[in-house]
Amino acid sequence: MAVVLLGAALLIVQPQAVSSRPAVSSEGDAAAQPAQKEPFRKNDFRETICPNGTFQQLPQTVIIGVRKGGTRALLEMLSLHPDVAAAESEVHFFDWEEHFRNGLQWYTNQMPFSHPHQITVEKTPAYFTSPEVPERVYSMNRLIKLLLILRDPTERVLSDYTQVFFNHVQKHKSYPSIEELLVKDGELNVNYKAINRSLYYVHMQNWLKYFPLDHIHIVDGDKLIKDPFPEIVKVERFLQLTPQINASNFYFNKTKGFYCLRDSGRDRCLHESKGRAHPKVDPVLLEKLHRYFHEPNQRFFELVGRMFDWH
Ligand SMILES: *[C@@H]1O[C@H](CO)[C@@H](O)[C@H](O)[C@H]1NC(C)=O
Ligand SMILES: *[C@@H]1O[C@H](CO)[C@@H](O)[C@H](O)[C@H]1NC(C)=O
Ligand SMILES: *[C@@H]1O[C@H](CO)[C@@H](O)[C@H](O)[C@H]1NC(C)=O
Ligand SMILES: *[C@@H]1O[C@H](CO)[C@@H](O)[C@H](O)[C@H]1NC(C)=O
Repeated sequence: MAVVLLGAALLIVQPQAVSSRPAVSSEGDAAAQPAQKEPFRKNDFRETICPNGTFQQLPQTVIIGVRKGGTRALLEMLSLHPDVAAAESEVHFFDWEEHFRNGLQWYTNQMPFSHPHQITVEKTPAYFTSPEVPERVYSMNRLIKLLLILRDPTERVLSDYTQVFFNHVQKHKSYPSIEELLVKDGELNVNYKAINRSLYYVHMQNWLKYFPLDHIHIVDGDKLIKDPFPEIVKVERFLQLTPQINASNFYFNKTKGFYCLRDSGRDRCLHESKGRAHPKVDPVLLEKLHRYFHEPNQRFFELVGRMFDWH
């Protein structure tokens, strides 16, 4: 099975609703953990418990985005933790009406079978930039822990373009050059959706209407790719997981130029489509993009009280 790494953003929130299930028992960290972990759990449905002791539960944490920020990498790395059960595919529950109208029982049914001591995570990068999603997530669980993984907004635009471009190539369809999309009448085409998706403060404001900042952990996607371990430790801490992921779970593949994961002898590397080379962009245009994002980036830094090493 090909496993993909490198993605976008991860979002986790902590529900407050109380579960009827007994407190989690876990080795280590016994004092802090069960009590604090319990609030993650919220399930209004009588889940069917399988003979093997597993069941499907609503996610206690969601990776909300951003598209092309490293969401797949984050999900895969988090899956190294034995107490994490991850949904394999993007569920698109909160952003696609035809899914959302199926209700939470349907959503639960999309989740992996997990043990009671595990937390469930799903990732759908489009959540971050969909204005209707924050309220819907809040209605499900206002204490959910959200994970958001971001990278340099200009790099994200190029990566966004590259993905759509290759999707078209695969289907033998044509697609405009990046210049055609980025420029209109000699100016930057700010109506290009990929540019809007990189206006992080715009989307973050929508989330902060519903969730306090400390329910949203922002993963630095540029750092996660260059040196995953320190970033993933922060995620473990945010999710109140016992520290289990260690540096030897990661090794650098020189041929590929990025990290792969090692998990009980099982190696997983990024899918070939990840880390694909970006198109060569005219330096003048690149400079325009950098300048365009400068102010929105500052607004984002103010909003979250944290700086990122972006252009
Ligand atoms: C437990 O049972 C479910 C449903 O039959 C199955 O999908 C799942 O893979 C099983 N899990 C384990 C850990 O055996
Ligand atoms: C960007 O997208 C958001 C959310 O969809 C929208 O509200 C906003 O008007 C857009 N901004 C621009 C500059 O297009
Ligand atoms: C790192 O974690 C793996 C399990 O994923 C374990 O087998 C190994 O002993 C750990 N290494 C260290 C140095 O703790
Ligand atoms: C490193 O990447 C190359 C190129 O994709 C691959 O053929 C090789 O198996 C990888 N090596 C390891 C140790 O993962």
